[in-house]
Amino acid sequence: MSKNIKHSFVEKRVGWLAVFMTLAISIGGLVEITPLLFQKQTNEPVIGLKPYTALEMEGRDIYIREGCNNCHSQMIRPFRSETERYGHYSLAGEHVWERPFLWGSKRTGPDLARVGGRYSDEWHYVHLMNPRDVVPESNMPAFPWLADNVLDGKLTAKKLEVFRSFGVPYTDEDIAGAQAAVAGKTEMEALIAYLQVLGTGLTQAK
Ligand code: HEC
Repeated sequence: MSKNIKHSFVEKRVGWLAVFMTLAISIGGLVEITPLLFQKQTNEPVIGLKPYTALEMEGRDIYIREGCNNCHSQMIRPFRSETERYGHYSLAGEHVWERPFLWGSKRTGPDLARVGGRYSDEWHYVHLMNPRDVVPESNMPAFPWLADNVLDGKLTAKKLEVFRSFGVPYTDEDIAGAQAAVAGKTEMEALIAYLQVLGTGLTQAK
């Protein structure tokens, strides 16, 4: 059989063509993905990364519940246009404890991967109560109910335990004190605590 005949064999048999295509594509994928599973750079936390506190963890859940991630990505790409606007590009090691990842790609609003520390808590409060009070042209919805909803923290310890089972280094004290750390705080306080820590993992490293 010459080379050409072999080629026409697969081209005329859709089943075999599909098998060979899958093989070819899988090899490409495996070559790219497999090394990442074993590289320190991608599977170990950056030096100095701290797990979310109980309050920040509750804030993250509120962020997901309110769908903030539908308009905001948390992933700064390594392009000059992005790093000049948002800061250092995102590193895998900053996200190893994130479940689920909130990287996203939809940017109705700006990327929030490094919004921590960019504004004061008061700014966030006013902005979340009514974005147009600080950014007149904003089309971000208002979230005033967050200031009224009070956390009871009943599930907070459980959440930290689940994350510990994924390898996040929470101590027994963190878990024992989780409910007390959030009970009585408003959802607004929790969400702002979460926003203020976003992307600070790199700068905390000493
Ligand atoms: C419908 C899309 C939409 C949703 C949903 C949304 N935002 Fe926004 N957000 C925007 C837009 C647009 C801006 C830019 C204008 C502004 O600053 O208000 C923005 C700006 C921001 C900023 C300022 C970022 C910066 O660097 O200046 C923060 C912080 C923020 N949003 C947080 C949130 C949080 C927290 C939630 C969920 C409670 C949320 N957003 C939900 C669209 C949205």
